[in-house]
Amino acid sequence: MRMDNKAYLVQMKSNGVHSRTRTLNAKGLPGNDIHYMSVNGSLCTTKTKSRRQRWEVKPSEMSKNTLNPIRAIVDGMKLVPNPEKPMISLSIGDPTVFGNLPTDATVLQAMKDAIDSHKYNGYAPSVGYLKSRQAVANFYSCPEAPLEAEDVVLTSGCSQAIELAINVLCNPGDNILVPRPGFSLYKTLAVSMGIEVKLYNLLPEKSWEIDLQHMESLIDERTSCLIVTNPSNPCGSVFSKDHLQKILKVASKLCVPILADEIYSDMVFPGCNSSSLASLSSNVPILSCGGLAKRWLVPGWRLGWILIHDRNNIFGSEIRQGLVKLTQRILGACTIVQGALESILNNTPQSFYSDTISFLKSNSEICFKELCSVPGLNPVMPSGAMYLMVGIEMDHYPDFKNDVDFTERLVTEQSVFCLPASAFEYPNFFRIVVTVPEELMLEACARIREFCQHYYRPPSCDGNDLDQ
Ligand SMILES: Cc1ncc(COP(=O)(O)O)c(C=O)c1O
Repeated sequence: MRMDNKAYLVQMKSNGVHSRTRTLNAKGLPGNDIHYMSVNGSLCTTKTKSRRQRWEVKPSEMSKNTLNPIRAIVDGMKLVPNPEKPMISLSIGDPTVFGNLPTDATVLQAMKDAIDSHKYNGYAPSVGYLKSRQAVANFYSCPEAPLEAEDVVLTSGCSQAIELAINVLCNPGDNILVPRPGFSLYKTLAVSMGIEVKLYNLLPEKSWEIDLQHMESLIDERTSCLIVTNPSNPCGSVFSKDHLQKILKVASKLCVPILADEIYSDMVFPGCNSSSLASLSSNVPILSCGGLAKRWLVPGWRLGWILIHDRNNIFGSEIRQGLVKLTQRILGACTIVQGALESILNNTPQSFYSDTISFLKSNSEICFKELCSVPGLNPVMPSGAMYLMVGIEMDHYPDFKNDVDFTERLVTEQSVFCLPASAFEYPNFFRIVVTVPEELMLEACARIREFCQHYYRPPSCDGNDLDQ
């Protein structure tokens, strides 16, 4: 092959988009210019740098900017339990750790059938099998927010759904609105992508409702999405219809799309509202992220989804195509789980869901009741999900610097591990996971009581109440 009187060696890359050619100099040896030939045949040249003299391999900026606050805090804690008391960990949002909450037999059978069929060992389309997307659409479709298969993207867990949703809506320099206290992944993903995170306040005294004025005050020209977590991790709160409508009103007025993290959708205690945001909105475009992890108690199966709600065609085809392109970077959901999905959604008995919810409610009530009477602690009763937040009146615990110190000493002395809520940008609280067996919940609460009774310092009698 000859061009411009120079000889070229052509190395074809497997994707065929660019081919790399190297000039041969007068002596027939490779020169320093590298030419990239695009598929249309045009040629561009770049000068190579002089040869490196030594190794210099550094982590990328993105990897350096990827911070998981839970790891950052927990890894810095001295978590040495009291050898006389077996450890009770109330810190991990994985309902399978104690073995007391198995998934339903129909869910397991669906997986076995999917494996035995030998039909799900290959690659699926990047957005997921049509049949599986249709099953999700049917399961979540309602007259107020109808869904078709094309409105569903299957992902590797809800985490990937959140990542794709942020990636498709935001550019570096944009900002997103995130709840405080809130699930830490949003910030971890956004910061590593150069997206600014603005935290809007939730109000513990109003069952963790959003401070709507505060939220609205944070929205500006570069706000590319509002993240709403409902039901909430870490609060276990569930927003009323009225509150959801008020959130939608702000989003509608200021034209901000919503990323609704609804991984705990329908994990709501009896008597509480379980509306999805999309079912209450006619105009706000919403990407609702969910998955199998929590409601079906199989977080390790890594199956999630994005439901695209766009009745006014605001996302339009561009956002949909953007999502499809992003799914083509790395294939998402495991095909075997995708193969089992239709059966999981259609055949799981109602009793499985209601038994799980009864258990979570009962354990939450036990924990709330026990901790309510502990001096200096203020638990907030949840309405769903699998968490309960507890406020610490730090003024009455002068032995401890903060929630991290408090929870660390709780491990050292009582072998009970609760996650300090600093991990959720909310100091002076800790989060309890309520999926543990009932007897362990009772034992953990008794130990927390003993610990608090030992360290609690009542208000002083000279009128200088520590609370003031
Ligand atoms: C609020 C929230 N969103 C998303 C996720 C991630 O879910 P998955 O395990 O399916 O990636 C979690 C997991 O704990 C969560 O609590």
